[in-house]
Amino acid sequence: MNGYGTTLLIKQSPINRLYSAPMAGYTNYAHRELLRILGGADLIATEMVSARSFIELEQHGLEPPSRLWGIREEPRPLAVQIWDNDPGMLAFFAAKLAFDFRVSVIDINFGCPARQIAGKSASGSFLLQYPERIGNIVQKVVSAAAPVPVTAKIRLGRTRDTLNAVEVASAVESAGAAGITVHGRTAADMYRGKADWEEIAKVKTALKKIPLIGNGDICTAEEGVFRLRNYPVDGIMIGRGSIARPWIFRQIRQLLREEPVDPEPAGKDIAAMIIRQFTALRRQFQEHTALALIRKTVCHYAAGQSGARKFRNDICSVKDTETFFRLTARFFDTAFDLPDGSRTGDFQ
Ligand SMILES: Cc1cc2nc3c(=O)[nH]c(=O)nc-3n(C[C@H](O)[C@H](O)[C@H](O)COP(=O)(O)O)c2cc1C
Repeated sequence: MNGYGTTLLIKQSPINRLYSAPMAGYTNYAHRELLRILGGADLIATEMVSARSFIELEQHGLEPPSRLWGIREEPRPLAVQIWDNDPGMLAFFAAKLAFDFRVSVIDINFGCPARQIAGKSASGSFLLQYPERIGNIVQKVVSAAAPVPVTAKIRLGRTRDTLNAVEVASAVESAGAAGITVHGRTAADMYRGKADWEEIAKVKTALKKIPLIGNGDICTAEEGVFRLRNYPVDGIMIGRGSIARPWIFRQIRQLLREEPVDPEPAGKDIAAMIIRQFTALRRQFQEHTALALIRKTVCHYAAGQSGARKFRNDICSVKDTETFFRLTARFFDTAFDLPDGSRTGDFQ
């Protein structure tokens, strides 16, 4: 092993193939820390980080973007996802990440359909219509970051009428990438409909040696194992399913090893995870920002449980830590200590 290589890891072990998806607004330091504690994911990614912002902040002698907070000391392996459409800027940023921050993998975003990225900034999924440009970007980033592996994350194409993941994947591989993730939707789909794993599977035919990582709609450990066993993918990437159930990677790993699978955590254990995440967020953010971030996450944990709708409404207007703790304790039927020494349960 070269100390960096996910490509090699995948080849060595059938277990090393579980990836945590980059998700803006969610896969912050606190989420990644929790994933590491729970175990099972082979590679954990940051949210996408703008190469342009990084460079502008650096030119003004300012701190790097907050999405890079904590990554110098963070355990490895760690993938940082980057976005822009300028090969020079991306290469510059990638070199910084490789040699200054010493991250394990650099992933380039060619899938984001959001208007700010794919519209105004002509980046993310906008670039899918130009496989050659993608190839050129990947090649520049690969040579700037070598030997740190560079991967790409794409969608099936811009629209259902212009599916071109096979062509894009070929360009990505020829440009020297170490792996490719395909989300089984088009940019026009946004998050509607279902991820099309048959189309993901077609990409395998374009690849000579690099791993194909399939992504989209895996919400349970069984679904994860099903995708791995029934589709020609070398790994799977999980996004939203791991916000609601960050223990999913561990369960998939157990299923793959034919070990007993951990039961779903009890409410009190979920509440403890939430408080841990919030405490980690508070190390990075002011109270109001930490609350805004944890509120979104907590709604994912609660989804599907009885009373989730009311809980979501209540939690969305929470403006202070104490109320957040109390509502969380009540919903997950538990109690814990508040900063003032009282117990949440005492006041329900
Ligand atoms: C809130 C949100 C933020 C996302 N942010 C990113 C991102 O920063 N970079 C990226 O490549 N994909 C991003 N995605 C897409 C996910 O990585 C993933 O491809 C998609 O959610 C499908 O996988 P899933 O069904 O397992 O969630 C985001 C998705 C969501 C829902």
